[in-house]
Amino acid sequence: MQITFLGHSCVLLTGSRKILIDPFIEGGSVASVNPDIIAITHGHADHMGEAVGLRKKTVAITEIAKYLKSKGIPAEGMNIGGTIVVDGISFTMTPAVHSGWIEEAGIAAGGGAAAGFVIRMDGVAVYHAGDTALFSDMKLIGELNHPDVALLPIGGRFTMGPDEAMMAAQFIGAKTVIPIHYNTWEKIVQDPEPFKTAIERTTDMKVRILKPGETTEIRA
Ligand code: NI
Ligand code: MN
Repeated sequence: MQITFLGHSCVLLTGSRKILIDPFIEGGSVASVNPDIIAITHGHADHMGEAVGLRKKTVAITEIAKYLKSKGIPAEGMNIGGTIVVDGISFTMTPAVHSGWIEEAGIAAGGGAAAGFVIRMDGVAVYHAGDTALFSDMKLIGELNHPDVALLPIGGRFTMGPDEAMMAAQFIGAKTVIPIHYNTWEKIVQDPEPFKTAIERTTDMKVRILKPGETTEIRA
């Protein structure tokens, strides 16, 4: 499987299918990606992004799925703790400690709870934590799903910062950790290098720092 970090929280998984998670990049568009399936972690604009405009099959929590269906998008609704299989790809929705709404024309509507996903494709399990604080049940997500890769927010302010994400990585136990949700704006500026150094000095996990647009290969 190839993992491409497109920027912010937006990640493309390419294998037997193309899965696009949280289709938002600052000042740009992900329309050229042409994914088979989109997964949305929560309703905030920096995660919903182009979900409506792209008009692809979309996996999201029931409240967001209902909203997308009202726009004519073929959405698959699910909820935290559940697993669905779409086109042979398995999506498990995990908890996230965060808030959620859908914003449209300056008006906020209920967007359900914020979530994360464990996505399995071609024998590789990827955990995208969404926007979240650190929580100890990340240990359970690790024990249940054995993710090969953990995509963890490190930007602080709206999510975990690097110190909490380091503990999250230890709870989850994935061999590879990729930091996300940082340096998009001034409010979430972080240097990922000390995070990488600290994890690699104290564990056998590897941190891959990807610049927006960079791809890394993960083997099953
Ligand atoms: Ni958010
Ligand atoms: Mn966010």
